[in-house]
Amino acid sequence: MSKEIKTSEPWRVGVLFSATGFMAVIEETQLRGTLTAIEEINDSGGINGRPLEPVLYDPGSEAAAFGRCAKRLMVEEGVSTIFGCYTSSSRKAVLPVVERLNGLLWYPTLYEGFEYSPNVIYTGAAPNQNSVELCAFLMERYGTRFFFVGSNYVYPRESNRIMREMVRHNGGEVVGERYLSLRAKRNDFIPVMQEIRAAQPDVIFSTVVGDSTTYFYQSYADCGFDPKTMPIASLTTTEAEIQAMGCDVGAGHLTAAPYFEGIGGASGLNFVRRYKKRYGEDASTNMCLEAAYFQVHIFAKALAQTNSLDTEVLRPTVLGSEFDAPQGRVSINSYCAHTDLWTRIGRANDEGQFDILHESAAPVRADPYLIGYGRTVAFG
Ligand code: ACM
Repeated sequence: MSKEIKTSEPWRVGVLFSATGFMAVIEETQLRGTLTAIEEINDSGGINGRPLEPVLYDPGSEAAAFGRCAKRLMVEEGVSTIFGCYTSSSRKAVLPVVERLNGLLWYPTLYEGFEYSPNVIYTGAAPNQNSVELCAFLMERYGTRFFFVGSNYVYPRESNRIMREMVRHNGGEVVGERYLSLRAKRNDFIPVMQEIRAAQPDVIFSTVVGDSTTYFYQSYADCGFDPKTMPIASLTTTEAEIQAMGCDVGAGHLTAAPYFEGIGGASGLNFVRRYKKRYGEDASTNMCLEAAYFQVHIFAKALAQTNSLDTEVLRPTVLGSEFDAPQGRVSINSYCAHTDLWTRIGRANDEGQFDILHESAAPVRADPYLIGYGRTVAFG
């Protein structure tokens, strides 16, 4: 008969977000969200009497470094659960590592969909939870002529492929499409603005991420364009990027996301209060931070049941689990290991917060392959 081993040893988990480099503007908030949840769990006694111990690596915004750090975490640190990644290129660098070594990556960022791995739990939005509603909203309120501007990597290109399909399906057209380096600076956006002026779109769909988001919106403001008639709409511009670019620069532009700080609700208000107490009144929450936060709590609930970090044991317990997140109730969809999340559309105001213009009546089921949005049926 095996004896149950009692131990107060910590549960060691890997944490992989950039605290430095051009993605730190958003990834550092995901790091904070992760650590906030870990602190809360440890303050209430840990999991089955054992604290969580984060093993932190900073990949410095370089996608390949994420792969190397994930390998070190798993091979040298002996960690099997990793919370991390913002860009899809960093996730794709970590995928072969967790698949080969049977780890579990918890990925708290919206992405382009069309992916499934038995070694990933996806807690950010898939395209059917943000792009579909955003496209319908933009076409109804602003018009049918879209201009795409993105950073040059997999998420923007794939996200635009989906958006283009929806725009065309709904009778619209894409009148321009430009990709810039992830390291693009303010001057790099000047030729893009000239093209936008010439093309006269009704709306700009941005898949620009990281520091260059600031330069893009500032460059737009430099040109004297008006968000009332030609807004920038995005899936990635959160309260963090708005704070970085300046509230006056961001005001009037649109973002689709499961969570905004301004949504209120008991769970949301509590979360914001605790976060500001920890990081200061000027620190804002955002959708990526919120997913980084709630996914640790979902993990902790599962671990309390399994008392094991073995991916083979933990993952089946995670699937189907639910949690009262700051955005509202969320659940990990057992079919695809993505999360059923809320769909919201917000417009940035003068205080750097988002006013909510649209909200789903209930959580939207994750459909990463857009199965329910068949090409013969109208989107939305
Ligand atoms: C992203 O790269 N998934 C935003």
